[in-house]
Amino acid sequence: MLSTDSSKRNSFQRHVADGDMVIVYERHDNMKAVRVKEGSDFQNRYGVFKHSDWIGKPFGSKVFSSKGGFVYLLFPTPELWTLVLNHRTQILYLADISFVISYLEIVPGCVVLESGTGSGSLTTSLARAVVPSGHVYTFDFHEQRADLAREDFDRNGLASLITVSVRDIQGEGFPLEFCGIVDSVFLDLPQPWLAVPSAAKMLKQDGVLCSFSPCIEQVQHSCEVLRQNFTDIRTFEVLLRTYEIKEGRMEATTKNTKGSLLGSLPHKRRQYLSAERSSEGDEKPTLIVRPCSETRGHTGYLTFARLTCI
Ligand SMILES: C[S@@+](CC[C@H](N)C(=O)[O-])C[C@H]1O[C@@H](n2cnc3c(N)ncnc32)[C@H](O)[C@@H]1O
Repeated sequence: MLSTDSSKRNSFQRHVADGDMVIVYERHDNMKAVRVKEGSDFQNRYGVFKHSDWIGKPFGSKVFSSKGGFVYLLFPTPELWTLVLNHRTQILYLADISFVISYLEIVPGCVVLESGTGSGSLTTSLARAVVPSGHVYTFDFHEQRADLAREDFDRNGLASLITVSVRDIQGEGFPLEFCGIVDSVFLDLPQPWLAVPSAAKMLKQDGVLCSFSPCIEQVQHSCEVLRQNFTDIRTFEVLLRTYEIKEGRMEATTKNTKGSLLGSLPHKRRQYLSAERSSEGDEKPTLIVRPCSETRGHTGYLTFARLTCI
């Protein structure tokens, strides 16, 4: 379960219990969310793992199968959850999520409105940011998506922090009961400009709105409407670049410069590596670093705006 109790923040101090959600980690690109159930098994290419062997172990433990294979049992933090959740829609990833939480100025105790809920990727991180006394009210007009998101939040121990409702936010706006009491609003909608006037009514003075849109035309349209009630309007595109680091032997990497690891290194670095090789021999392993081939490109534009002081 995602802990909502700050005293349990360090997951290594927590032990896996019957009914807990764990992230079964094989490799950084192979993880799965599994609900622990006494008497059940988890199977993969490394063998059969008994859930009963997991119960009582601290999160982070390495556990073994009947064949001697192993996996790690990780705590389902929002960061990991975003990587393993069922994609029922496009989702927000960590680079955008982190930026959203910072620029929306979300702190413990905040009241946040969100629409649409989608797969609940952002909602899960929003919930952790408002712990312990804040709340996230999230709306989606797709009933089944709302139900599935609610089930996920429930299973992850977040039900007390998130309320999921079915509502057409572009058509009806946010419920009037939230007028003037909301710290931040997040929109991930196809026509966000339709929801902007309602969002302006919900926000406290100085409250911040963020709208995520994949296309620049959506951004332009939203900005035109935002200008009526908001100030400090800024749009960002967040690009994350991750690196792959490997230990390799120079001999293998210099043989084929076209498309090889060394082939993608800058000229100066190549010279350095060649000098190193000639003075110290071909056998010396070296670190080879290159941008990850799976690095995500454009996801969307994040437009932030602050409610104009009256
Ligand atoms: C891209 S998804 C949101 C993904 C979410 N941000 C996440 O990180 O998982 C967009 C969602 O907006 C919902 N939606 C579209 N139009 C809507 C409307 N008028 N009112 C409420 N929800 C709407 C869709 O059903 C969909 O689930």
